[in-house]
Amino acid sequence: MKKLIAPSILAADFANLQRDIEMVNESDADWFHIDIMDGVFVPNISFGMPVLEAINRHAGKVIDVHLMIVDPDRYIKTFAQLGADILTVHFEACTHLHRTLQAIKAEGMRAGVAINPHTNVALLEDVINDIDLVCIMSVNPGFGGQSFIENTYKKTKQLKEIILDNNAATQIEIDGGVTSKNAKQLVDAGADVLVAGSFVFKSQNPKETIIELKEIANS
Ligand code: DX5
Ligand code: ZN
Repeated sequence: MKKLIAPSILAADFANLQRDIEMVNESDADWFHIDIMDGVFVPNISFGMPVLEAINRHAGKVIDVHLMIVDPDRYIKTFAQLGADILTVHFEACTHLHRTLQAIKAEGMRAGVAINPHTNVALLEDVINDIDLVCIMSVNPGFGGQSFIENTYKKTKQLKEIILDNNAATQIEIDGGVTSKNAKQLVDAGADVLVAGSFVFKSQNPKETIIELKEIANS
């Protein structure tokens, strides 16, 4: 299976959002990664529904929404209506994760679970067949531009083993501090999707950077 690149819109220029969305549309990127932060689950507020609605009007690729919010069940229906194709909730924010996953799927979206750097991947084993995507946080969620946590390689390998042992079709996404330096080691460990914010949008030529990442991930 081809490895996928998901630029994180958090690192885009919000004063030129349409331009940056068109850049992703025209690029080799596969998904739009959209970070929603509530200032409670994480110590930052990014943007909310009206901005996602605007992004959806221009985005021509899969919309991968990463919710860094408490009690995400409240907004599952809303995010489906706003055009999310994949809805990822945080393990640490869900008391009844199994129920939440079913609710996401009932709205026609693919169900993702993100885990913080301190959360052991083994905690997902009992629901692995219900999860379409696991997002392994390779930084503490809340901000773009942080440095990659090296322990992520080990977690990715452990999760891949759990997926294979259970014959699950779950994809592994890595989010935070992804660059051309760690991309190869991440896919070798089992990653399927690489999220990249700063590395793409702060580069001289974002489209070329996406091509570079995609080539490394598929080499
Ligand atoms: C962090 C977000 C990430 C972030 C990645 O809380 O979930 O998606 O935008 O940005 P970089 O690639 O700059 O670490
Ligand atoms: Zn994210």
